[in-house]
Amino acid sequence: MVKNIVVLTGAGISAESGLSTFRDETGKIEVGKTEVGKIGGIWAEYDYREVATPEGFLANPALVHEFYNKRRAMLLEVAPNAAHIALADLEKRLLDQGAGFTLVTQNVDDLHARAGSINVLQMHGQLNKVKCVRCEHIFETCNDVSLNDSCPECFEVGGIRPHIVWFGEIPHYLDDIDEALSDADLFVSIGTSGSVYPAAGLVGAVRQMNIPSLELNLVASENAALFTHGVYGPATVIVPEWVESVFEDNY
Ligand code: APR
Repeated sequence: MVKNIVVLTGAGISAESGLSTFRDETGKIEVGKTEVGKIGGIWAEYDYREVATPEGFLANPALVHEFYNKRRAMLLEVAPNAAHIALADLEKRLLDQGAGFTLVTQNVDDLHARAGSINVLQMHGQLNKVKCVRCEHIFETCNDVSLNDSCPECFEVGGIRPHIVWFGEIPHYLDDIDEALSDADLFVSIGTSGSVYPAAGLVGAVRQMNIPSLELNLVASENAALFTHGVYGPATVIVPEWVESVFEDNY
């Protein structure tokens, strides 16, 4: 029986909930004959330099707010899927058995938390939080944000930005992630293309520590060859199946 699992998720785990991924060709996923979700590339629609960098925010804050307002509003229309729920179940069952579980996600949606996951490290920030650039105060919102908004802490007007880690900024929880990996006896990557570091480098780090790794993805990712094992298919099918296998000791 495993003692400590670290899971990394990416946009692919939320695709079947109806949230777009970043880099996939637009298409659809069918399980049997039922279309269970769409994949589509956000970066095919937007130039990431304009909406997901500090320079882009400086140049055109209204465009950046519009980009995140649209994605934040989507959160009210989607729900966790069977893959999110399976991971929340896994965490509970492992902790009940005195084992360890850490969920690291690149996703900024709130679907893991809404599925019941507790120990979630959102390394790229959170869509439902914003930050004051003047006093760094972070607060929750599910509303649209604009340049007219003021900080509830320092009352500065126009300095509110999405609490999102943009390209060129340092992701959150890096020390916690390193610590979790150093104690892990299994690393599992779910629904990520392995395109963005440092998240994409985690499998290389665990390989150095001789920790077994598993990729669960729709298709083999860019760094699939680094994983000990890979299982491919829609997350709502392969993640619940994998979770059950953990408790049958043949994960
Ligand atoms: N089930 C499982 N995997 C899926 C599904 C699905 N239903 N749909 C898509 N995928 C896979 C795709 O095959 C792809 O490998 O999910 C992955 C999504 O990759 P990306 O769109 O690149 O998303 P992600 O890896 O999370 O991007 C990493 O890049 O732009 C930044 O900050 C952004 O956090 C994001 C980071």
